[in-house]
Amino acid sequence: MSDEDVQLEARLEEQEVFEPSASFAEQANVTDEGIYEEFEENWPECWEGAADLLDWEEDYDQVLDDSNPPFYEWFTDGTLNASANCLDRHLEERGDEAAIEWVGEPVDEDNVTYTYEELHQKVNEFAAGLREMGVGEGDVVTMYMPMIPQLPIAMLACARIGAPHSVVFAGFSADALATRMNSADSEYLVTCDGYYRRGDPLDHLDKANEGLSGVDHEVERTIVAERLMDGDGFDHDYADNQVAFDDVIADNEGAEVEPVDRDAEDMLFLMYTSGTTGKPKGVKHSTGGYLAWAAWTSQAVLDIKPEDTYFCSADIGWITGHSYIVYGPLALGTTTMMYEGTPDYPDKDRLWEIVEDYEATQLYTAPTAIRAFMKWGKQYPEQHDLSSLRLLGTVGEPINPRAWKWYYKHIGGEECPVVDTWWQTETGGMMITTLPGIKDMKPGSAGPPLPGLDVRIVDTEGDEVEPGRAGYLTVNKPWPGMLRTLYKNDERFIDEYWAEYSDTDSDDPDDWVYFPEDGAKIDEDGYITVLGRVDDVINVSGHRLGTMEIESAIVGVEGVAEAAVVGGDHDIKGEAVYAYVITEDGYDETEELRSAIIDGVEDAIGPIARPEAVIFTPELPKTRSGKIMRRLLEDIANGEELGDTSTLRNPDVVSDIATKVQGD
Ligand code: WTA
Repeated sequence: MSDEDVQLEARLEEQEVFEPSASFAEQANVTDEGIYEEFEENWPECWEGAADLLDWEEDYDQVLDDSNPPFYEWFTDGTLNASANCLDRHLEERGDEAAIEWVGEPVDEDNVTYTYEELHQKVNEFAAGLREMGVGEGDVVTMYMPMIPQLPIAMLACARIGAPHSVVFAGFSADALATRMNSADSEYLVTCDGYYRRGDPLDHLDKANEGLSGVDHEVERTIVAERLMDGDGFDHDYADNQVAFDDVIADNEGAEVEPVDRDAEDMLFLMYTSGTTGKPKGVKHSTGGYLAWAAWTSQAVLDIKPEDTYFCSADIGWITGHSYIVYGPLALGTTTMMYEGTPDYPDKDRLWEIVEDYEATQLYTAPTAIRAFMKWGKQYPEQHDLSSLRLLGTVGEPINPRAWKWYYKHIGGEECPVVDTWWQTETGGMMITTLPGIKDMKPGSAGPPLPGLDVRIVDTEGDEVEPGRAGYLTVNKPWPGMLRTLYKNDERFIDEYWAEYSDTDSDDPDDWVYFPEDGAKIDEDGYITVLGRVDDVINVSGHRLGTMEIESAIVGVEGVAEAAVVGGDHDIKGEAVYAYVITEDGYDETEELRSAIIDGVEDAIGPIARPEAVIFTPELPKTRSGKIMRRLLEDIANGEELGDTSTLRNPDVVSDIATKVQGD
């Protein structure tokens, strides 16, 4: 490093507060600090502005109906269509502008630009095809697809005809697909033949077919997008109810499908996410409130303008891709990028090459990626002109100040504000973050809650804790983007998110408090630092995995008697999966069993859940009431001093396990 670099690093290291640059602030979508007070005074009508970002078929009567908490309704009796809002209304002014810039992983391939006109056409054709196959309003269509353009086309086609979609991340296993299709009673699947990962074609249809064999009801139709290039395909015979995506499009060439009027509260989509029990939760999102929230936060926080080329590197298989690759950006009529591959293929500068080539104006990514960029080194971004970037964002897990500053300096050139956005699948969109044109940034802290949100940090009794003290994050007022319930499971919805801090017998909305199950602290300025999950959910590379889900996969392996899974610290992934396993009598602690366990987890969930370490142990540390003390297992995984073991039924076991882990 040059002297200058060293000085700069040292200055950055110490700096705790960063102001947005004047050049950014001047042009920001939100410039008036008064917005916080105004929203507080004018609540819930303050959200009319978000609804105004959309085109409504039928105006709504009431902004919020809170007569039956926690089943809040937003923009009641209003009707609209999400696909019309993301496509049709932009045609006149932006028909020839790019809606989606798609970049495939192979470098020498022709990438595809879809103008609004073209995307609109494809969506209409596919919507006509879906209808013809019998997909009706309210039917859940499952999508099991990687980052290929047919995925947003299918999503928007579903939205057009009022069929909720349920997108299952392509990296999930066949079993995970089956579980989700079964839970949603979904009779239609859109998938693909394969895709590219680090240069190799991957067979995806094989996995989809295996998943289909585990579906407990009849599947009417499977539509297969043919992504692989000539010569890379795998041998697949289509079953009678399977049809190629392109054939559906070709059969409906030129079709026009009138967008269906949907009630604001009608389900736009389902998104399964991990919780504390083994069964994934089907988070239900609405059409009006969700879309308004995705659009408003895209505008206020990501500062999206129609002429931008906005790049979010998440996968559409997660909520981030739903809200901030598809719905938010397209509702605002901007150009949204989609990249199929990984950031290190063919080399570790791939994202920077894309930013330069397309002159991307925003980059929204995850701390796990930023930690990897840091490890690879600044020489990769330095090879490219990143001056088109105006704003940077992160989401998915806490970002440590060092990674934040690296991102700010080496990607943003100290000119771009960094928005550290806290939110969840359940919240639909961003909740806690700085408004980039008006708020100072504090690396490591997400920032204040967005205007109109009442977020408090409380103790176990529900009383607010002092600034600086750790407590639990709570949201004390509803917001338009919130989940409406868990699919067909109102009871679990109340249990998981409300019961902890609400008076569940009350009809008064003031007695209802949403609990996201995260720990956090707040500082004197109202900036919130999110500390991480307080439930049994592990955050691996920004992806939520339930320990119960992984444990049930492990105990399904022959030879395993009992298992406990915890998250241990990991440089790149944030957390990694540590599995403590007790073998059944008659089974040895062999390498074969270890591999079988790892394979078992991959089969049940997918490679992201792959244990970093499998530790065989004769016993697990348990309290006298038989509860596994995960905290101790976490300490062991992290090589930390062991906490209090006095409440254990079997205190000796921890030191035995610790010795074993160090020996491994
Ligand atoms: C964590 C992703 C700290 C948090 C959009 C939350 C974060 C969970 C942040 C939701 C952040 C997300 N700082 N932690 N900026 N963003 N989280 O449902 O624990 O996949 O509860 O949604 O990720 O993960 P989910």
